[in-house]
Amino acid sequence: MNWVEDQLFEKRHGLDCSGFIDRDELETSYSSALAHSRAYEAVTCAAMRELLDEAKKTGIVFDHFIDLGSGKGKACFYAAAKYRFRRLIGVEFSAPLVRAADRNLKKFGADHICFVNADAASFQLPAGDNLVYLFNPFGEAILLEFLNNNMDKFRRSRSIIAYANDKHRLCLATAGFVTLFRNQDSQSSLHQYPST
Ligand SMILES: C[S@@+](CC[C@H](N)C(=O)[O-])C[C@H]1O[C@@H](n2cnc3c(N)ncnc32)[C@H](O)[C@@H]1O
Repeated sequence: MNWVEDQLFEKRHGLDCSGFIDRDELETSYSSALAHSRAYEAVTCAAMRELLDEAKKTGIVFDHFIDLGSGKGKACFYAAAKYRFRRLIGVEFSAPLVRAADRNLKKFGADHICFVNADAASFQLPAGDNLVYLFNPFGEAILLEFLNNNMDKFRRSRSIIAYANDKHRLCLATAGFVTLFRNQDSQSSLHQYPST
């Protein structure tokens, strides 16, 4: 029955997040990142809700929601519709997908959401408490580069990584993150770098 909720959500907000785009068909100018990319498909509302509800239970009032590999923007739209964030940023390395997200944003109508065309590996997190969300967008090489570029931010804040289809979660443990939550059935998890 999950697909009914997803169809209703997209219809209510005039969104088109449909489709499955295999890695080989993704268009990007970040050619070295392409080999590490996974396919495009939108997250389900149910998967988002589980992670956002669990993140809320931590008691942290997040400043920003950051979607690494934001595709057509569904996760940002769901997070903005159901929860309170000062700013939501989608980072997507495929320009056509960023354009699709921007078309959706016009329909959704919100000035605190933006989509940027960039490789997540070199994205710099904003200062503050970030909820960094991933829906299995890429492999370990990109994840590690992103972590290396942002360890300072994780050390100095209460930021959390919310990981749906968490294929490379062990990478986070190796980097020193602690798992706050994991659901083995949905393969979703939350991770935080211990405060110093
Ligand atoms: C499974 S989709 C998730 C879409 C969206 N986050 C959602 O939950 O609906 C993964 C996305 O990550 C993007 N991606 C893959 N590698 C990337 C990279 N290095 N930097 C930014 N985006 C990337 C893909 O183009 C794809 O749109």
